[in-house]
Formats: sequence, structure tokens, C-alpha cells
Amino acid sequence: MAAPRYKTLVDALASDIRSGRLAAGTRLPTHRGLAAQEGIAVVTATRVYAALEAMGLVSREQGRGTFVRDIAVPAGHGIDLQVVATDAVDLNFNYPSLPGQADLLRQALRGVAGSGDLDSLLSYQPHRGRPQDRASIARHLRRRGLSPDPDQILVVNGAQHGLAVTVMATLGAGDVVAVDALTYPGFKVLAEAFRLDLQPIPVTPDGPDLDALARVCASRPVRAIYTMPTLHNPLGGVMPAAERTRLIEIARQYGSLLIEDASYAYLAEDPPPPLAATAPDITVHVTGLSKNIATGLRVGFVVAPPHRCRRSNAPSGPPSGTPRPSPPRSPAAGSTTARSTSWRRASGTTPRPARRSPDRSWRACPSSATPRRTSSGCRCPTTPAPTG
Ligand SMILES: Cc1ncc(COP(=O)(O)O)c(C=O)c1O
Repeated sequence: MAAPRYKTLVDALASDIRSGRLAAGTRLPTHRGLAAQEGIAVVTATRVYAALEAMGLVSREQGRGTFVRDIAVPAGHGIDLQVVATDAVDLNFNYPSLPGQADLLRQALRGVAGSGDLDSLLSYQPHRGRPQDRASIARHLRRRGLSPDPDQILVVNGAQHGLAVTVMATLGAGDVVAVDALTYPGFKVLAEAFRLDLQPIPVTPDGPDLDALARVCASRPVRAIYTMPTLHNPLGGVMPAAERTRLIEIARQYGSLLIEDASYAYLAEDPPPPLAATAPDITVHVTGLSKNIATGLRVGFVVAPPHRCRRSNAPSGPPSGTPRPSPPRSPAAGSTTARSTSWRRASGTTPRPARRSPDRSWRACPSSATPRRTSSGCRCPTTPAPTG
């Protein structure tokens, strides 16, 4: 049986796009134009474009037309994963796909590009982010129950970078970090890169088993607890208020830093206050815009405890990529952001374990213009791609 006309057309256009005969960015004819050109009904032309869009080959821009997508970037995510079949639901990654989202972003980005300020945006930015951006992030976080001072905020390249910065600024090789037995794989990758000693804690429907956590903390120096109290990845749970209070008590009792990953917190309706609202002095709160606005922006924020931050009028060092004349003494770590922030390791109440690699010196990394902290020779841990 002959393939329907619309299917033949979809196949022909798909083949032209895949072979590069139709280059990324090419504007395709309007639905009417395609209908006239191919001698088909307009409704069939619409169906053709819908099928191509579902295959990730074209994108439709309201008011502008249909464009060939850059197929080097698979639809939905740019990480190197096979694109799943078009009739399957891809559970590899979570990303926002709200109707109209791209149009809203297009408008906003045009506004940015058209503003007189573009030149300054294309220059090196202050390491922690521009003061006005940190102030608007502080306002945004107020809606999530936090009330940080903009000086506590670092703008980072996504939550994964925020976690990396947090680890580099506050922990060292060999440090024990308690994590849920089932946790975000991106944190495990970081732990491996930075040689943290992960201590799994059994999980209950209400979050980590806090009795088990307390027992572990009593028996080992747990430097930090990595937790996702509001919409856990992958379990999806929200830790109730009483459990949060107890978690904070345990962290205080044993001098552990709380690393609160709130990447999905925006999805929870009326959750209890974030840990960073109740215990801002011992919590680093990490979140970003990948899950609610666009993964490609890769914008994240870290809210650090006030006593670990330098005030904004303090000098913030040379831009990234500028060779440093001498290695800094600050333990704050190898990312642009962390270097300027001067986070301090808390004068811990818990005895620290002997560090397995105490050498915190900086060396220029040949593969990057930015000097990175290394333990021996050049080991350049890059921020791993997250899964989730
Ligand atoms: C729990 C969690 N934290 C952090 C991240 C990293 O987010 P980003 O894309 O902002 O780096 C993810 C991404 O999937 C995540 O699921």
C-alpha cells in the first residue's frame, strides 16, 4: 500500500534535514506555502510540520514561522544521549517544556540583546554575579520562603556547578558526606571527582532515616549532609516540617554542613520552609533555572551562610582566565565564582579527619586558562553532566 502523501513529505523533509541539505536555521515555507508548493491541503501541511517537530527536526516560532532545528542538539537536552523513539516518553532528563515558554524567552532575550547594556553583558562579569542580578535572585528566592541578603548569593552555571562550588569551597578529599541511599547521581559523580567519602543513609517516605543518620553522625565525623528535602530526585518526596527540624538539630549537634539541593523545589505546593530559611548559618542552598525555565541557560544560584561570605564591596580578584601571579591562600575553590567568594571552612565543632590530600595549592591547568586547585600534578575535575 502506498504511504500517505503527508508521510512521504515528512520522510523527504526529514531526510533533507538529516543530510544537511536543509541547514539548521533555514526558514521553511508557511503552512499555506507548503500546501501550495506540494499540492496538499493546508491541514496536511500543518500535520507535516507537527510530525517534523515531534521528531525534533524543526521548531515552530509563533509569529515567525517554522525553522530547521540544529540537530546536533537533540530536542529537549543537549547532553550526549541517544534520542529516544518519537513515540516513547524520554525519562532520561527532566526539563521544562511549557507551551509558549520558548516564545516568552525569545522576547526576553531580544529585550536583553536590544538593550544598551549588551556590551557590558558580553564582558567578564563579577565573579559572584552582578549585584543587580543577585538582588533580583534574592527577590525571586523570597517566593520560595528564603530571605537571603544579595551578598549571600552566588550566580553559577547551573545547580550542578553550584554543588561543585559548594564542595570545593567547604569540603576536602576524605571528608564524610551523608547522602540518601538513593540520591541524585550528579552528586555521586562530584563525590568521586573530589574524593569525598559518601555515607549512604537509608531512606523513608519522609526523607532520610534520621535515627540512622544520628547513629552515623555519632560514630563518624560527618562534615556535610547532602539532602533534597523539597522534591527529592529521584524519589519525589517532600520532607515534613518535623523531620526538617530534627535534621537541623542533628546537623547542629554534630557540626555538619547542610547542602540543600532545591532544584525541583518550585514544583512542590506549599512545602515546609527550606532548611536554609530555618538554619541559614549551617545551610548552603543550591538551586537554579534548568528545571523551570530552560536547561540551556544553565543558570544556578547558591545561597551561602552569611558568615562564609565576603561583603560585596570587598575586591573580587582578576577575571577568569587571567593568570594569577601567585597562588591564593584561600581554601575557596577552583571555579571563578568560588575563588572570589572567600568562603571559609567553618571553625568546625566536629574533629576533622586527617586529609588524604592536604596539598591545596593552585596550578595552571594546561587544558584551561583558569588555574584550578589540584592535589598532585594536573587533575582538572570538570563539572560533570548531570542526569535527572
Ligand atoms: C537534584 C538535582 N540537582 C542538580 C541538578 C543539576 O541542575 P543544573 O542543570 O541546573 O546544573 C539536577 C539536574 O538534573 C538535579 O536533578
